[in-house]
Amino acid sequence: MSDELAGLSRRSLEERRALVARRLGITRESLDDALLGGGLDEATANRAIENVLGTLALPFAVATRFVIDTVPRLIPMAVEEPSVVAAASAGAKRIAQGGGFTVDTDPPITTAEVELLGVLDVDRARSALADANEPLVEKAATILPGLVARGGGLREIELLTFGDSVVVHLHVDCRDAMGANLVNTLAEALAPELVQLTGGEPGVAIVTNLADRRKVRVRARVSAEALGGLQVRDGIARMSTLAERDPYRATTHNKGIMNGVDAVVLATGNDWRAVEAGAHAWAARTGRYQPLCRWWAEGDDLVGELEMPLALGIVGGIGRIHRLARFAVELSGAQSAMELAGFAAAAGMACNLSATRALVTDGIQAGHMALHARSVAAAAGAVADEVDEVARRIHQAGTVGLEAARAALSELRRER
Ligand code: MEV
Repeated sequence: MSDELAGLSRRSLEERRALVARRLGITRESLDDALLGGGLDEATANRAIENVLGTLALPFAVATRFVIDTVPRLIPMAVEEPSVVAAASAGAKRIAQGGGFTVDTDPPITTAEVELLGVLDVDRARSALADANEPLVEKAATILPGLVARGGGLREIELLTFGDSVVVHLHVDCRDAMGANLVNTLAEALAPELVQLTGGEPGVAIVTNLADRRKVRVRARVSAEALGGLQVRDGIARMSTLAERDPYRATTHNKGIMNGVDAVVLATGNDWRAVEAGAHAWAARTGRYQPLCRWWAEGDDLVGELEMPLALGIVGGIGRIHRLARFAVELSGAQSAMELAGFAAAAGMACNLSATRALVTDGIQAGHMALHARSVAAAAGAVADEVDEVARRIHQAGTVGLEAARAALSELRRER
């Protein structure tokens, strides 16, 4: 893609906005409109949650160089941590050299749990539910007619036991919605029928955030050359093995993945708590906490695979009232919730590749501190072009801290 977007990080904010607007084929005014006030004014925020005092701003950025299923993409990211967007773009650039990311997704199934108390005969309850499958699906269609009109609806009813607890899972195709509200509505409305069929008492009814029917798989192949040689390639594969063996390392490995995933989830107005809960529950599904993304050597290449549940929406939710979150989805070009989930997972994989590559080469601090120095410079009071110059000076001196930045800023101002 993006020759015109190459070196975007070195452009001014103005130039960057102009280039991105041109790339998206939209006017500069509409980009500015979407970004205005972070996409959410106070009056709207005041209607969104309770006891509102204002809004919280975060940097909103685009990661470049992503080629996903052969299509170049811009990836929207909202994150406070320096070097995450750079890591995503750098990882995606290396992966693009090997043909880019390949994504495969489950259907957009969100699941509700209905707890049933005092079911005496579990096998009978299970067969009663199987016999009543058709009328239950029909009843569900009357409860969620809009979803059925959009091609979604109740797909499967499953009875599970956990010790002597009995739980019915309602697997619902939620199309482009994340679906928590849809499945909660359905679960509460169907609970009386489920109780009657199984001979139990009603328990609780609520979505499960372990969205393991809504997973995303991303694959990538990178040549050793694109990584800086066989030693680097082998180092990344070794880090992946370490993450499989050492849960302390797996947690940090996954944190690096969530740097990318969460930034896309947040930028697009999705529920990052649900995504986080699901991701880590999935990582721990075998009873031992595991990495979400693995890398191994194949021929001269490094091959990676990431698999995780990702329940995102591109309709409903905060996007109804949040201009920037809506715009972020448009910017990505995602046409469905699962496509957006694939982009978020690709961002996670790209961040993971960059982080593990940095760890086995220069160490994480070299690149991170260079970028972190800019926010330290700004915190010390540097403005406009002072920021880069103060950052350069403190980074070069190896003292990236507030005091050093204040001193460098005073010195710079005296010089000018
Ligand atoms: C920092 O935000 C993320 C890393 O710690 C991830 C990792 O160690 O793989 C660099």
